[in-house]
Amino acid sequence: MVDTLTPVLTANWGAERSWTLESYEQHGGYRALKKALTMAPDDIIAAVKDSGLRGRGGAGFPTGMKWSFIPQDNPKPKYLVVNADESEPGTCKDTPLMMASPHTLVEGVIISSFAIRANKAFIYVRGEILHVIRRVQNAVEEAYAAGHLGKDIHGSGFDLDIVVHAGAGAYICGEETALLEGLEGRRGQPRLRPPFPAVAGLYASPTVINNVESIASVPSIIDHGAEWFASMGTEKSKGYGIFSLSGHVTRPGQYEAPLGITLRQLLDLAGGMRKGPDGQPRQLKFWTPGGSSTPLLTAEHLDVPLDFESMGEVGTMLGTRALQLFDETTCVVRATLRWTEFYKHESCGKCTPCREGTWWLAQTLAALERGEGSESDLDLLLDQCDNILGRSFCALGDGATSPISSSIQFFRDEYLAHLTHGGCPFDPAASTAWADKATAGARA
Ligand SMILES: Cc1cc2nc3c(=O)[nH]c(=O)nc-3n(C[C@H](O)[C@H](O)[C@H](O)COP(=O)(O)O)c2cc1C
Ligand code: SF4
Repeated sequence: MVDTLTPVLTANWGAERSWTLESYEQHGGYRALKKALTMAPDDIIAAVKDSGLRGRGGAGFPTGMKWSFIPQDNPKPKYLVVNADESEPGTCKDTPLMMASPHTLVEGVIISSFAIRANKAFIYVRGEILHVIRRVQNAVEEAYAAGHLGKDIHGSGFDLDIVVHAGAGAYICGEETALLEGLEGRRGQPRLRPPFPAVAGLYASPTVINNVESIASVPSIIDHGAEWFASMGTEKSKGYGIFSLSGHVTRPGQYEAPLGITLRQLLDLAGGMRKGPDGQPRQLKFWTPGGSSTPLLTAEHLDVPLDFESMGEVGTMLGTRALQLFDETTCVVRATLRWTEFYKHESCGKCTPCREGTWWLAQTLAALERGEGSESDLDLLLDQCDNILGRSFCALGDGATSPISSSIQFFRDEYLAHLTHGGCPFDPAASTAWADKATAGARA
């Protein structure tokens, strides 16, 4: 059993009423804020840069660098917007963080706003998760009452107000410019860039948009120092992160570990794959490293380090570290169809390749899953992916193609078996002989 957990963001989650200000402060909460208020804002930006923190929302853009793009000579107000929309299938880290320790986020928002010289910050929370909205709102109220927010915070001369905004339930509003549209009261659709939000974001003012986990990592960096953060992780993927394991695993949940840990190590910590009726652990068949928008991997990738570079080298992305695990009982075609239906539903309709393309992907896949069509439909499907990938207005369209192209790459035979079988060979009513043979092949 490996012992590679590094609880920092999750350290206080098990504490009594961990979400309250009292509990948070008992565990050292708001110590970093007091330190930050004695620092020059540019020194905070430098510390975040030196730490090597890269955005935890998926793309991995360096956080300190993003902050330094804010033009401080621009007389317009500066804004910090926290992206708490978390809607990617499989992604489940920001929601538990905000439930268990909303003050970690609030403290991070205050320090980050001070650094970029914003006097107003917004936390854009996914609309469906009402319990989280209430919890973050309560934390903000507690922070005001304690003097951590409002006018002249702790005599520093720095003023900050936080607005907790509830989204209206659209995956596309996690895309940062669609989120800004939503905040401004318009339909959530991405904006053309440039101008980038750092120059003209919310209300055409300089705006930093960061993921919940990125901002929540800031207090510990200020408290313990950039070097401490950079001592964890790999050369180019520094620090720790929350890995969410879901699906066919014995103990699903959030595991906080240095970037560069492998799925094999995480699986050890999570008790391995779930057991079958014979009491033996089932076999890992396929998994997503960072949510459904990141190309699938298989058991042969169990030892690839989970960092930005290594994931890129094997043709996928680290994304949001949403590790969805599927064992040999899962039909990869059906799983891919379910994800594709999600993208079809969530396509905002602004651009043709994604609006029309995701509809066609779902049609073609559904027919294949029913065992209709011919082998050439696999090429048709890949051709449809080609017409979306890199041709869409935003990354939602690109993401929609990931599960399809990667599942055909690794499980082409399983697609073909649907055709020869005249339907899903995993259907309980059908013979499982083919499925047993195919998954044994995938494991080899
Ligand atoms: C369709 C789509 C959905 C997204 N959803 C989220 C989300 O829920 N949360 C998030 O932080 N980033 C999401 N992103 C990425 C954001 O656009 C943006 O890169 C991120 O918020 C930047 O924060 P970071 O630099 O701290 O990672 C999404 C992107 C796309 C294309
Ligand atoms: S890629 Fe899809 S979600 Fe993005 S703008 Fe085009 S239609 Fe909208």
